[in-house]
Amino acid sequence: MRVRRAEPRDFDDIVDLARRLELDHAGMDEDIFWVAEESGEVIGIVALRKHPDCLELCSLGIDPAHRERGVGRAMVEALTAEPPGDVHLATVIPEYFEALGFVRAPSVPDSFIEKRKTPWCEGCRHDLCAVMVRKKP
Ligand SMILES: CC(C)(COP(=O)(O)OP(=O)(O)OC[C@H]1O[C@@H](n2cnc3c(N)ncnc32)[C@H](O)[C@@H]1OP(=O)(O)O)[C@@H](O)C(=O)NCCC(=O)NCCS
Repeated sequence: MRVRRAEPRDFDDIVDLARRLELDHAGMDEDIFWVAEESGEVIGIVALRKHPDCLELCSLGIDPAHRERGVGRAMVEALTAEPPGDVHLATVIPEYFEALGFVRAPSVPDSFIEKRKTPWCEGCRHDLCAVMVRKKP
C-alpha cells in the first residue's frame, strides 16, 4: 500500500470511491487529494480544502475491503505532514480522530459555520458533528 498525492488521472477513481462511501460533494475538483493505492487500485482517499480562514481535512474514506489496516491513519499522517498551518475537520466519529492527534476545536472557524448552510452538510447528523483541530507542531 502506498499513499501519494493524487494525479489528474486518479480523479475518476476518487469520485467513484467517494460516491460509494457517500462522501462526494460539489467542489471536489478544487480539493487537493491524496490516494492510497494498492495493486494499481485506489483503496483510500482524503482531501485538503483551503478555506479563506482555515485548512480542512475532508473526504477521508477507505474501501470497506481494506479497513482496519492503518490505511486511514497513514492517509491522515500524509496530509497533516504538508500544510503550513493547523488542520480542522468536522466529523461524527471524533474518537477516531482523537487517536490521530486531533482535539475538539476551542472555536469553530467561520468557514465551517457557512459550510453547514450548504448541501454538503445535508443528511448528516448535526447533533453528532464535532469540529476538531490538529495543531501544526
Ligand atoms: C473511519 C475510516 C476512515 C477508518 O479507516 P481505517 O483505515 O479502517 O482506519 P485505521 O485502520 O487507520 O484505524 C483503525 C482504528 O480506528 C478505529 N475506528 C475505525 N472506525 C472507527 C469509527 N467509525 N469510530 C471510531 N473509531 C474507529 C478502529 O477501532 C481501530 O482502532 P485501533 O487502532 O485501536 O484498533 C473508515 O472506516 C471509513 O472510510 N469510514 C467511512 C467514511 C467515514 O466515516 N469517514 C470519516 C468522515 S469524517
